[in-house]
Amino acid sequence: MTDPTPPDGQPSRGVSRRGVLGLAAVAAAGTAVGFGTGRATSSGADDPRRGSHAFHGDHQAGITTPVQQHLYFASLDMTAGASREDLVSLLQDWTAAAAQLTAGQEVGESGATDGSPLAPPDDTGEALGLGPHNLTLTFGLGASLFDREGDPFGIAARRPEALTPLPSFAFDLLEDAISDGDLCIQACADDPQVVVHAIRNLSRIAFGRAQVRWTRLGYGRTSRTDAGQQTPRNLFGFKDGTANILSDDAEALDRWVWASDGWMAGGSYLVARTIQMTIESWDRTRLQEQELVIGRTKGEGAPLSGGTEMTEPDFAMRSSTGDFAVPSTSHVRLAHPDLNDGVRLLRRGYNYVDGNNDLGQITAGLFFLSFQRDPAQFVQIQTALKTDALNEYIRHVGSALYAVPPGARRGEHIAQALFES
Ligand code: HEM
Repeated sequence: MTDPTPPDGQPSRGVSRRGVLGLAAVAAAGTAVGFGTGRATSSGADDPRRGSHAFHGDHQAGITTPVQQHLYFASLDMTAGASREDLVSLLQDWTAAAAQLTAGQEVGESGATDGSPLAPPDDTGEALGLGPHNLTLTFGLGASLFDREGDPFGIAARRPEALTPLPSFAFDLLEDAISDGDLCIQACADDPQVVVHAIRNLSRIAFGRAQVRWTRLGYGRTSRTDAGQQTPRNLFGFKDGTANILSDDAEALDRWVWASDGWMAGGSYLVARTIQMTIESWDRTRLQEQELVIGRTKGEGAPLSGGTEMTEPDFAMRSSTGDFAVPSTSHVRLAHPDLNDGVRLLRRGYNYVDGNNDLGQITAGLFFLSFQRDPAQFVQIQTALKTDALNEYIRHVGSALYAVPPGARRGEHIAQALFES
């Protein structure tokens, strides 16, 4: 899919199109720095389409990788009657396809156009010529995969203790249809068609073994995971991702993000929450009130106790009214490590818009994604957010938790250690 066309826009003669695509993809993959650790390629600096991230590595890419602009997330369930062999073969096939997709190659043996005219093509073709656009594919396993009646996958005894369904939280209005799932795939890239193509082809490969349960299309990152990235804004218009765990903070990653037990060592746990925002009532709220709800200024993103975006909030400071400058019900105060035994999360969420309701109100919100070494970290912070003034403007409508296995090394498939004794 990487487009190697010379400036005149025509592939060079004498080399088959597929051959050219393959060479370009290999070149792109070969320049990827830091296996699976989320570093962009040097070639990506010249042409954003060619930036790529190696699929294989110690950790899965798509966690500390600089957050891309677009997301397509899929939750899947194993088909009724599926066996352990079906699950393992699916993970093997996904691994092979993910390595091709993230390198900008077409999926399968014969790609989109080189197969038999009498058979459907291996690759669906809509990403031809687009390039990898920093695509990462991150796979996760839900608790229901381990809990299935009769243990058809033979993994019940290997379920990590941390993979326990999340408790109910105050204000939860969860819908089954957009919650949970046996497996998940998080596709992130800097082009929307590239993420859709990836999920479409991976779910097609799953046919007969697993089917899609729900999906979420996210545009516009609401976080940063790399010091070089600008802080983006969420749909409330505030900078989001200021106080996140960044890719160069090895100590924080080890302490708060990477799991260390058993087959999950080097993996992480992913919480995915679909949080609807009541955009219309927020937009009718005074600027001063909006800032008191968040605890930061809207323009600069500075804490209300003063300074600039990166200044640490001073939670003891009082305003002229005698109240805390960063109010006791503000989001930033309640979510801050100082009030949560030091607990931190790596946030990697996206804005979403999903049509409108009968009243003409836009259905939009934050697809909140956080990675942590133990879901208890999320539980602690979400519990603390019970008195968050933001609750008047948001509703959690979808929820899921997945174990994200460590990265697959070359020759291995995703979650291979789970199936080895
Ligand atoms: C629609 C819902 C949400 C909105 C609009 C939102 C918005 C924000 C904003 C604007 C900030 C300040 C900038 C920053 O440091 O990133 C922030 C910080 C933060 N949020 Fe949220 N957030 C939402 C949901 C959540 C949830 C569900 C959690 C976790 C349970 C969470 C955890 C945090 C954390 C840990 C911080 C950093 C606090 C700090 O260390 O200063 N947020 N959020």
